[in-house]
Amino acid sequence: MTNHIRPETHKHMEKKHVCTLCKSNQIQVFLSLGPTPPANNFLEERHIDRGEKFYPLDVYFCLDCSHVGVLPRIDSEELFSDYVYLTSRSETMLSHLESLSDTIFDRYLDDEEEALVVDIGSNDGSLLQFFQEKGVNVVGVEPAENIAREARKNGVPTINDFFDEETAKLILEEYGLPDVVMATNVFAHIPELDEVTKGIELLLDEGGAFIFENAYLPDLIENKEFDTIYHEHLYYHSLTPLKSYFQRFGLGIADAERVPIHGGSIRVFVEKDPQISDRAKELIEFEEERGFTELQKYRDFAEEVKGIRQDLNSLIEELKRNNSRIAGYGAAAKGNTLLNYCRIGPEELDYVVDNTPLKQGKFTPGMHIPVKTPRHFRNDYPDYVLLLAWNFAREIIAKEKEFLEQGGKFIIPVPEVKVVGKEFLEKT
Ligand code: TMP
Ligand code: ZN
Repeated sequence: MTNHIRPETHKHMEKKHVCTLCKSNQIQVFLSLGPTPPANNFLEERHIDRGEKFYPLDVYFCLDCSHVGVLPRIDSEELFSDYVYLTSRSETMLSHLESLSDTIFDRYLDDEEEALVVDIGSNDGSLLQFFQEKGVNVVGVEPAENIAREARKNGVPTINDFFDEETAKLILEEYGLPDVVMATNVFAHIPELDEVTKGIELLLDEGGAFIFENAYLPDLIENKEFDTIYHEHLYYHSLTPLKSYFQRFGLGIADAERVPIHGGSIRVFVEKDPQISDRAKELIEFEEERGFTELQKYRDFAEEVKGIRQDLNSLIEELKRNNSRIAGYGAAAKGNTLLNYCRIGPEELDYVVDNTPLKQGKFTPGMHIPVKTPRHFRNDYPDYVLLLAWNFAREIIAKEKEFLEQGGKFIIPVPEVKVVGKEFLEKT
């Protein structure tokens, strides 16, 4: 996932506080997570005293179309200028991408002679490689130069640019009409979403499909995943608002299903003039029945989020009173929302462990906790670990069995603050 914006066109976003999807000004902020620096701006030690910029992190609900998003407060140029997020090379992620490619292949590509798949925000080409293994032609679109280069090195043809109508025309000229256009975890990061949707529309003919995956708003709310809210995540999608959104572009939702990745995601199949599937219809009904089209749902959520902050702070206070040592696990962007919102800093956490070389040796944005390697962790076990990357709980806990066996404990912050010890190993 990387950003998909031409920075120069977005200087004035701050002024128009309207719903991104339907452009209504009937939007209501229901949650303010406080002044927060961009969640991926890890700091070098020498920059710590320079001062960082903090921005309000406010989330709105659109009374007209039920869309939920973060109020755009930061110039995208600043937000994304150093954005160097490589698709997590976790086993969990790769096996998810492989199974996604299998599903798409069986459904759309099996009978095609010269199938073509386009991936928007193709990152290092991980997803497209699975299609290549099936004999499918591919082209990725990736705006980050270093990451696009990495993808090409992996043998994945990659256009190093933002995706919009212009890029779509270039693809048509050079590669022809794709059978499938994909976007995983990018459709929530694009300030000028309409430009991207117009480009997608150009790439779809009657048999074509656009398939995207993103965190699913009802999962976020029900699992209290408030920490997945940060400035780069502009939108929290559900089907109800998207249905009318796509209609404006002559597209429609053909199908949708929930998938268990990133704390609960939705996979949406968009086509031209589709019949909507029963399971997509059921999801839309589910959203309405469960109150996701009402402001009250979100007000209740905001109260629950405050409760988590209280519980976590009391627990940490108590552990510190007993002189326990605590570290964080996974310097994920969402970890930074949690740490900043709960004001958990180096007084509370000795360090945060992360296996990404790019983050190691740096300091977390806002709270300035040092990021250390897994080796450091294994040589210096704390008593407790606050699991910041809870979406990889299974993988991380399995990897750190020894820590648990030696009496270490994990603090899992969502959906409710919970402490688990080695008994957890028997359960998983
Ligand atoms: P993400 O949820 O934004 O992908 O972030 C997860 C972070 O956790 C990422 O910085 C990598 C880190 N991580 C580890 O340190 N060890 C692991 O085993 C896994 C799966 C992730
Ligand atoms: Zn709206």
